[in-house]
Amino acid sequence: MGQIMMKAKVQVRPCMTLECMSELWVERHRPRTVGDIRGQGSVVQRLSSYAKLADFPHLLFAGPPGTGKTTAAMALTRDVYGPDFRNNLLEMNASDERKLESIRTKVKQFARTAPYGGAEFKIIFLDEADALTHDAQGALRRIMEQYAQTCRFILSCNYSSKIIEPIQSRCAVFRFRPLADIEVSDQVKAVAKAEGIGLDDEAAEALVRISQGDLRKAITALQVAAALEKNISRNLIYETSATAPPESLHQYLMACRQDGFHAARRRLRELLDKYGLAGTDFVNQLHRELYGADFLSENQKLELTEMMAEIDFRLVEGGGEAIQLDALTARLSKLLS
Ligand SMILES: Nc1ncnc2c1ncn2[C@@H]1O[C@H](COP(=O)(O)OP(=O)(O)OP(=O)(O)O)[C@@H](O)[C@H]1O
Ligand SMILES: [Mg+2]
Repeated sequence: MGQIMMKAKVQVRPCMTLECMSELWVERHRPRTVGDIRGQGSVVQRLSSYAKLADFPHLLFAGPPGTGKTTAAMALTRDVYGPDFRNNLLEMNASDERKLESIRTKVKQFARTAPYGGAEFKIIFLDEADALTHDAQGALRRIMEQYAQTCRFILSCNYSSKIIEPIQSRCAVFRFRPLADIEVSDQVKAVAKAEGIGLDDEAAEALVRISQGDLRKAITALQVAAALEKNISRNLIYETSATAPPESLHQYLMACRQDGFHAARRRLRELLDKYGLAGTDFVNQLHRELYGADFLSENQKLELTEMMAEIDFRLVEGGGEAIQLDALTARLSKLLS
């Protein structure tokens, strides 16, 4: 009886674990200070000196998703103001606030009160600033000037080319790069360790491969796999992230070369089913693997690149998936046999 009671008690714990699982690991392991940000060498260096000075101009962070822009904005604010940083921070997402009027009203209200704790200025973080229309950006530029005495703006965007020149010239521009393989690998290993998850080198390498420098993608894929198993294998990563492992793509190419259209087509169907790939996923993943396939000549690679670009375009434009992939297999079989 005692043992049953004990068991019952122990069984409460998985619920707690599940509760923890419901928190996103990307949030739980988001670096809190600028110094903890992975990679982004020169960006981190410059932001660290801003943090030390507790002073900086308007900033524009540009770069691909999941590379640390929002993280850097939060970390810098925390480094400057300490744990109560939220009192001096107004966060807005330009995709939610498409009407500039709502941004203007919020900024006005926020700028009305003095900075908390004797600080020199407050920070307004405008995420996804490239979602603002050209006109809205024109008006934003006036707002930035109006409140420059009491507020610093940090703008974040994926494409700096979508931000009008006058705003760029008011900001120190920081370019975030996709993270290097080793940086992604080090971070996923650190997260796995902190979460008590087994992750061997091959599985970490699979995460690096699927992430393509996007750490959010890598950590999310890790969490998805960890919800199924505590010791994560390379295959589990591929199966749960709609990505085919490189060898299966090579095998498809080999089948086109050696076994002919029908066998290659069958292999492709199996591959799509097993890894849950959409047609465009497949074409893009095959494209990435192409250059590493040493049994293809340089000319074949060039021709294949054009071929895949065309099929990708047709798929995106709404061409039927089955017929487009068959067309790809047919052309590959002709070219490689
Ligand atoms: N350079 C980095 N160092 C450490 N962790 C990172 C880094 N970049 C991203 N991450 C992880 O990925 C998550 C998402 O990163 P972040 O929100 O900073 O991306 P972002 O660059 O703002 O992307 P988006 O363009 O989609 O807004 C973070 O919570 C963190 O866990
Ligand atoms: Mg962001």
